[in-house]
Amino acid sequence: MSFVFHPPLRLFVLVATLSVAAHVAAGTSNSLMDISADGLLLACSNRDSGTVSIVDLKTRETLREISVGKKPEGVSFLGSSHRLAVAVYGMDKVVFLDADADTSQKLAATKVFDEPYGVVSNASGSTVYVTLDFPGQVIEIDTSSLEIKREFSVGNFIRGIAITGGDDRLLVTEFYTSNVKAIDLKSGDVVDQWQGASTDNLARQIVLNPKRPKAYLPHIRSRITAIHGSGSIFPYLTIVDTIAGEGKRRTRIPVDSAFSTPITSNPWEVTISADGRQLYVVFSSTNDMFVCNVVDDDYREVSLRRQVRLGANPRAVRVSPDLSTVYVYEALDFNVAAYDTKSLRRIADIEVTDNPLDNEILVGKKLFYSALAPMASRRWIACSSCHPDGEPDGRTWHNPEGLRNTQSMAGMAFTHPIHWSADRDEVQDFEHTIRGLLMQGRGLIRGKVQPALGPPNKGLSAQLDALAAYSNSHKVALSPFSRDGLSEKAKHGRDLFLSAKTKCATCHTGGFFSDSTPRAADQIVRHNVGTGDDDPTEKMGPAYDTPTLLGIYRTAPYLHHGKAETLEEVLTKYNPDDHHGVTSHLTKSEQLSLVEFLKALPFEDPLLTGPNIRVGD
Ligand code: HEC
Ligand code: HEC
Repeated sequence: MSFVFHPPLRLFVLVATLSVAAHVAAGTSNSLMDISADGLLLACSNRDSGTVSIVDLKTRETLREISVGKKPEGVSFLGSSHRLAVAVYGMDKVVFLDADADTSQKLAATKVFDEPYGVVSNASGSTVYVTLDFPGQVIEIDTSSLEIKREFSVGNFIRGIAITGGDDRLLVTEFYTSNVKAIDLKSGDVVDQWQGASTDNLARQIVLNPKRPKAYLPHIRSRITAIHGSGSIFPYLTIVDTIAGEGKRRTRIPVDSAFSTPITSNPWEVTISADGRQLYVVFSSTNDMFVCNVVDDDYREVSLRRQVRLGANPRAVRVSPDLSTVYVYEALDFNVAAYDTKSLRRIADIEVTDNPLDNEILVGKKLFYSALAPMASRRWIACSSCHPDGEPDGRTWHNPEGLRNTQSMAGMAFTHPIHWSADRDEVQDFEHTIRGLLMQGRGLIRGKVQPALGPPNKGLSAQLDALAAYSNSHKVALSPFSRDGLSEKAKHGRDLFLSAKTKCATCHTGGFFSDSTPRAADQIVRHNVGTGDDDPTEKMGPAYDTPTLLGIYRTAPYLHHGKAETLEEVLTKYNPDDHHGVTSHLTKSEQLSLVEFLKALPFEDPLLTGPNIRVGD
């Protein structure tokens, strides 16, 4: 727009465009799938299998599947080579491998602090940049020495990453806020940022237009004040003007109402073809894809060409460098589908891995990700909209019973009853959530549904039991703060935690640090720890279920109402009268020790310590 009439700037745009176009091939934006620059190989990470599959794109067959460890996420070819970098989220390492080699030996890897998610490579392949979801950093790894050269602390929960042509800048996204930040690669400084709306959520990827100074990120919007099947969660595509000070900076397109198509939900990834003309968005909960034309008008930005129906839980999409084929990763069909980009006909199915999940868990996982009948009737919301991969959405919802911060599902099987108020004793009680105002689904039980805390809903529907089995399958990960054992400070904190004076361990007991354990509804234990009067909308307090303390280093904000922003605040600001353990006698340094201990949890396998019981046992 304005730059068209502005000679110096126009020149700049032209230069930027040329250098980007030269570098569009492999690995310029994070994805669970990448295509080598020569178009011969496709690599995808299989989160549930713990493997990376290499596909020959000529024969459209899986050449090999390589074990890389728990929960691999981003993959990227290095420059124009067939070497690959893989972010292994669950093992805190970035693995390097040669896609042409049958690799049975130990793979080269770089250990990182925690949770590597997205990976991109520079044009020559000499360097990769990796986002660490927690603690919210980007690291630079030299791909020959495999050493970490630089670390950039840029925000919280950084997932999406893209590298500009000329390797000048990185653009990264914050998962929970969808804020975009630009890091200058010379100085290492954050040189620009584009803030999201307060409702923006779950931005796990960002893609650059190879021809124009634009970046695209898929995400959702979580309207925490509305609990309604068609008012809480919306799919969005945000577009960022990457040139400072020009254009509209940041716009978001509601990818449901913008087009007159059936509603889509939970966009996971986008991609853009190398000519900058076609944009594809995959929706992980309605199992479909938008194929869009990129409109060069700085106004509408994209127009819809076709809505294509896909298999289960599509999570990644990439276009071949010759523009002929678009590949979609159907995560819960363990399949990569190939579509002709002109006719949009499905031309191949490539099995990339065997189902590694127990069949019941697979059924449950599909339901958990689904915003289709019978889970929801309005197509906007799935369980995964607020519990992506069992992790929290970082939100505190204004539920009818009061403010409720979304919990992590890790270890939940051992900390039943569930919900902050222990108002449910089995995941099967979420039949009420499915049928309620939030999801408005038909539900999974035929016939009478038992009230929560009433006689069991377990056993009334195989599908509902499967949903419960999946929800209860999330394991806790050891804390990165105690990888080398407890620090002296944390040990001091443990002594305080266990002391008769603070009383913490009277409620936070056992391997899961919670006295919450499956028992008859009339014997459920709740405690009034003085937190129930902090909010006038509260309907259920003042007594709550004791939450687990495992993994709380990464789950701020705290307490049922999500008002405590830090662990210190739980002990101080929100415990003024010593109802929540006794903390007023602690010196500042003792408080810090206690927090240090809380951050170190879990430092060992919780099952070793007991005596928590798994629900159903
Ligand atoms: C709009 C967001 C949203 C959706 C959709 C949603 N949840 Fe939740 N979930 C929450 C919040 C907020 C909490 C905490 C509520 C509470 O404790 O009262 C929660 C808590 C839970 C818990 C308890 C965790 C624990 O440790 O106590 C389970 C289990 C759960 N949800 C399962 C589901 C299932 C299954 C679905 C789909 C049928 C679902 N949720 C849909 C937001 C959501
Ligand atoms: C009487 C039982 C009891 C005692 C004693 C107790 N807690 Fe808690 N704790 C709870 C309950 C119940 C909650 C949930 C309160 C809420 O959400 O409002 C909680 C919540 C927490 C949370 C927030 C967890 C989250 O995920 O948001 C932390 C941290 C915590 N307790 C640490 C401690 C420490 C440290 C001590 C000792 C100083 C302690 N607790 C003593 C019962 C107890």
